[in-house]
This record gives sequence, C-alpha cells and structure tokens, in this order.
Amino acid sequence: MSKSLKLYGGVAAGIGLMLVGAYNFADRNIAGYPSNPQVLANLPAPIPEPVAPVQTAAAPDAADPAALDGGIVGAAHADNGDSTGLRFGLGREALPEEVAAWDLDVSPDGTGLPVGSGTALAGEPLFEENCAACHGSFAEGVGNWPKLAGGGGTLADDDPLKTVGSYWPYTSTIWDYVHRSMPFGAAQTLSDDDVYAIVAYILYSNDIIDDAFEVSNDTLPTITLPNADGFVVDDRAQTEYSLWRAEPCMENCKDSPVEITMRATVLDVTPDEAGAEPAVDPASAADPAEVAATDPDPDAAPAVPPAAAPAEGSLDPERVADGKKIFGKCKACHQIGDGAKNRTGPHLTGVIGRAIGGIEDFKYSSAMADMGGTWDEDTLAAFLGNPRGTVKGTKMAFAGLRKDEDVAAMIAYLKSFGQ
Ligand code: HEC
Ligand code: HEC
Repeated sequence: MSKSLKLYGGVAAGIGLMLVGAYNFADRNIAGYPSNPQVLANLPAPIPEPVAPVQTAAAPDAADPAALDGGIVGAAHADNGDSTGLRFGLGREALPEEVAAWDLDVSPDGTGLPVGSGTALAGEPLFEENCAACHGSFAEGVGNWPKLAGGGGTLADDDPLKTVGSYWPYTSTIWDYVHRSMPFGAAQTLSDDDVYAIVAYILYSNDIIDDAFEVSNDTLPTITLPNADGFVVDDRAQTEYSLWRAEPCMENCKDSPVEITMRATVLDVTPDEAGAEPAVDPASAADPAEVAATDPDPDAAPAVPPAAAPAEGSLDPERVADGKKIFGKCKACHQIGDGAKNRTGPHLTGVIGRAIGGIEDFKYSSAMADMGGTWDEDTLAAFLGNPRGTVKGTKMAFAGLRKDEDVAAMIAYLKSFGQ
C-alpha cells in the first residue's frame, strides 16, 4: 500500500470513528424513543408500572445489610429475565455486533478463538515491526519492558523471571492478551492471522514450537506450556481458615511451663557486620569447644557445647568457622553439640553418617521418614542446596544455601561434631 493510500485510509477511518462516536452519543443521550422496530415490537404494551419501588423514600437501615440487599439490589433484579431497560423504555438492546466486540475472551480449550493461522516465520517480521521496540528482538526484552521469552527454571528462585514461556499456564492467554491489548497504544489493530503468527513467534522464541509449526485455532489449544501444572486452586478458605477462627485464648493458654531455650545472641539475629559476634580466631576454630567459649553467655548456649569428637585432620579450620557463622541460619530450628535437643528440626549432632530421618523421637515428614539411606556429603550437599527440591514434601521450611562454598562450609561445620 502506498503512503498516501495509508494516509487516506487513516483519515477515512478517523472520520468513520467520529461518526460512530457521534451516533452513539446521540443514541444514548438524545434519542428519546427506541427507533428499532424489532425492539418496539418487544416492548410490553402498555408499559407496566414497576412491581416493587426501585428505591424506597427512606434510606435503608445502614445497620441491616439485609435491608439494603432486599431493598435496592433485589428490586433491580425483580423481574427475572425481563430487561429492566425495556421495562422503563430506556435504551435499546445491544446489537449482536456490539456484543461480539466486547465478547473477546478465549478459554484454554480454545473456545472463543476465531478461525485463522500463522507460523513463527510469518510472525518474525510482524513482531519486529509491532512489538520489538518494547519487547526486544526474539522477545527477550528491552530495558525494563516485559520480557516475553526465557526465564525457564527460575520460578523457584528468589528473583524469578516470569515470562510467557516460563510462567503462563495456557497458550490461549497469549492469543487473548495480544489480540486484546497489544501493540501497547494501538490495541486491536492486528488481524487475527497476524495475531496467530505473532503468538507462534513468541512460542518459537521460548523454544516451545519450531518456526514452521502452524499455529491455528485448532492447534493452539494443543500446545502445552511448561508451567501448565504450576497453578493450584487456592483452597485456603476451606483448608486453613477454620484453623485460625477458633475463639482466641487470652489467659493461661500454655499448659506446659515456659522455658527459655535460646537467646538472641545465639540466634544471631544481629548481623555480623555490626560486630555483634566476637571474631573467631581461625586457628582455634577447628575446636568447637573454643568456638563455644567465645560466646558471650555460655549458660545461654546449650546449642553449642563442646563437641564429642572433633573429626581428625581433614577439616579446614577456616571452613569450619565459616560454617559456624552460616549455622546462624539453622539455629532457629536446629541444635548441635553435646546435649543438643530436637526443636523445630531434629538435633544435628553426628548427622553425617546418620540414617536419614533417623532420630527416634523426632516427628519427620513422611517424605523424609520414608527416604531411607544415610546422610553423607553428597546427599547433604544436595539437600542443603535445595531442601524442597531434593526432598519433595519436606517440612523443613528453609529455602536452601545458595552458594556451593556455603554448603561446603556447613558440611565441614557439621563434621566437626563427629561423624
Ligand atoms: C510501546 C511499547 C509496547 C509495544 C510496542 C508492545 N508492547 Fe506488549 N507490553 C508492553 C507493556 C508496558 C506491557 C505490560 C503491560 C501491563 O503489565 O499492564 C506489555 C505486556 C505484554 C505481554 C504480557 C507480558 C506478561 O508477562 O505479562 C505480552 C504477551 C505482550 N505485551 C505482547 C506484545 C506483542 C505481541 C506486541 C506486538 C504486537 C507488543 N506486546 C507490543 C509494551 C509494549
Ligand atoms: C525453619 C526451621 C528450619 C531451618 C531454618 C533449618 N531446618 Fe533443617 N530441618 C527442619 C525440619 C523441620 C527438619 C525435618 C524435615 C522433615 O521431616 O521433612 C529438618 C531436617 C534437617 C536435616 C535432616 C536431619 C535428619 O535427621 O534426617 C538436616 C541435615 C538439616 N535439617 C540441616 C539444616 C541446616 C544445615 C540448616 C541451616 C543451613 C537447616 N537445616 C535449617 C527445620 C529447619
């Protein structure tokens, strides 16, 4: 199409839009009587008085929500099926075209998709022209505009990259979203086939289909996105809410005597940078007895008593010292050392070489209780790096140690309490 044709086309469309707008305005605000003969025929004649008053003279009692409900909302819906507008002689019924213009939604099973098709090959130039300015070539994003591709496997990270490919559950949403609202600022200017081709290109950029695959109203619903099973119905209203609804206990609520099991200095709630913890001399750190002795209040630190049998030779004292610091993250739930007790988590004295889920009087999750095997360096490294990924269903509510060197230091520290 030549430039001038495009221009005239634009002007014509603009005038057209203005006329439609003016007509709609007049229709809504000026036309006093329905002009559509079809609608006229539908009008009950004579127009009956409303059965119930729409609004009572006195405002409904604000303290009684039932009055509000029955008074106003109820009256508006009084005649089942009967259009209130018609009953009062206002407006007209929406035309099928008008309903269709609003009724855009597409369901995961493909309901609502118009007939059409396109491939990523056809979509690439369309995407470059209409979308890449914001979403980047290959849909990988520009600056802070949303990335539409990549991010696979990052959903469990602290900083996940949620894209169409990594996060969205259904392909239908891509079609619907692009068709409905993109390109940003010029929504609904693309033809249906163009939308199919662009959707194909986005799927292709996420390595979900190849560039010749024809995405159509038939094939789109058959494509499964990687995160299709990643969404669950939120049933907390049924499963959890009742647990929190009990009458709250306000006095003498705890039947066992209260005892102090840990203190803030032991828990390491104050960041190390502030110098809250006395510096550990690396030379002496191999011996946990010494490490424990540097704690300001030994009485308050049942968690770190002298170790039964510090491992021989192989332990690097610096690593052990690092591990002790990192153990600050575990202390809220685990004790270690002589006399260590089970708390939220099982005690960890001698955990290396111990049966997995092996402490008799600790109530493990069935996931961990049924695992079998013993904790060695490899199983521990996997578990500490990604607890919930390694033992699916574990009740250890800890995200994991992100750095390999932290895991190694932790294992050295655990080893220093015997194995
Ligand atoms: C002028 C910039 C711009 C252009 C051009 C543009 N978009 Fe967008 N797009 C955005 C913005 C901004 C958002 C986020 C909107 C929001 O969150 O409400 C977005 C969101 C999206 C999303 C949803 C992303 C998500 O994960 O939530 C998709 C899919 C998308 N755009 C596709 C397209 C396609 C296809 C085109 C071309 C036909 C296009 N966009 C053109 C700016 C743009
Ligand atoms: C929020 C509490 C919590 C934190 C923090 C926590 N754990 Fe745990 N840990 C648990 C629980 C609960 C279990 C039992 C898991 C199960 O039954 O599924 C457990 C189990 C373990 C086990 C398996 C023990 C066995 O007897 O089989 C090891 C090893 C372990 N944790 C190490 C650590 C380390 C090391 C850290 C710190 C880096 C840590 N945990 C942080 C609560 C915690």
